Amino acid sequence: MELPESTPRRRARPLRCITRCLVVIGIVAAATCAAASDWGMGAANSRLAPPDMFNPVSTPAYDIETLAWFAIAVCAGIALVVGALLAYSIIRFRSRAGDEEREPPQVYGSNPIEFAWTVVPLLIVFVLILTTARTIYTVEAAIAPPNAIRIRVIGHQWWWEVRYPGLKIVTANEIHVPVSDPAHPTPTFLDLESADVAHSFWVPRLAGKTDVIPNRRNTMWIEPRRPGVYLGQCAEFCGTEHALMLLRVVVEPRAQWDQWVAAQQKTAAASSDRGRRIFESTACVNCHTIKGTVADGRFGPDLTHFMSRETIGSGAAMNTHDNLRIWIKDPAVIKPGALMPRMNLSDADIDAVAGYLESLH
Ligand code: CUA
Repeated sequence: MELPESTPRRRARPLRCITRCLVVIGIVAAATCAAASDWGMGAANSRLAPPDMFNPVSTPAYDIETLAWFAIAVCAGIALVVGALLAYSIIRFRSRAGDEEREPPQVYGSNPIEFAWTVVPLLIVFVLILTTARTIYTVEAAIAPPNAIRIRVIGHQWWWEVRYPGLKIVTANEIHVPVSDPAHPTPTFLDLESADVAHSFWVPRLAGKTDVIPNRRNTMWIEPRRPGVYLGQCAEFCGTEHALMLLRVVVEPRAQWDQWVAAQQKTAAASSDRGRRIFESTACVNCHTIKGTVADGRFGPDLTHFMSRETIGSGAAMNTHDNLRIWIKDPAVIKPGALMPRMNLSDADIDAVAGYLESLH
């Protein structure tokens, strides 16, 4: 088929430019709105160090950082060599005046060259495999000392159940562990399980990712050396609210951690007000546990010491009175797709239930 002799090129129409500008403005506006309605999380998290694997504070994370820098250095070396050879070839063999008639030498098959480009990459990959295997082995071979803290973490759509079997503590989404003194290490060993689909447990400053798989128990450990709050998240797509399946690890000096343990082991503040009656007479009790009451559900987080947690909705919102009211009224406003249904309570009943939950220290 013959093409028409000349197809006039369409000039960029002003309309197209305006549309593009509007799209960009829209994206910026949407991002700004999202930041403004982050339920206090942006401001709270901005006071914490970002979850950066190149800023480790715990033993397995130190090893992973060293390995990562080694792999980056090797890859950077390869990039430099390839880039330099490429630049040399482009400059040295560029087209010059008088070259039009000549063809460059055609090389078919060269044993030395083929040998070099097979063996050198093989050696590099082999070194990377060995160093990675060694790091994995060192991390996985660690044996829990008798004084290690033991935690069971169970991934749910979309929150983390946290159990301390030896201490009879159940909480959610915020894990408290003591800081480990190098002279007397107190590492924390975690058993990871899933109640539904595959998740992945990742607190970048403390350790590498570990998959959380149904019908299987994976283990990992951390040994934090510095007190602080470390942000983590689910690292495996697990459904609508995967992005809001956040967690935080609170690393405290031993004495402070002991206090936290003692407070968590107490039964909930016994309060027999209207809020508790409403809570106990609705479907809340089928999914949530509050020790010392009829509520013993396990589908949702244990609320016995609800006010000891900084966030609600697995890190979706700060645990403030206003956010809590919105959450009880309709969790989907804060976390669309959350499996907690709206209970259709009146405003007065929402206030009463919020008041009751806020008494659970
Ligand atoms: Cu759980 Cu992604």
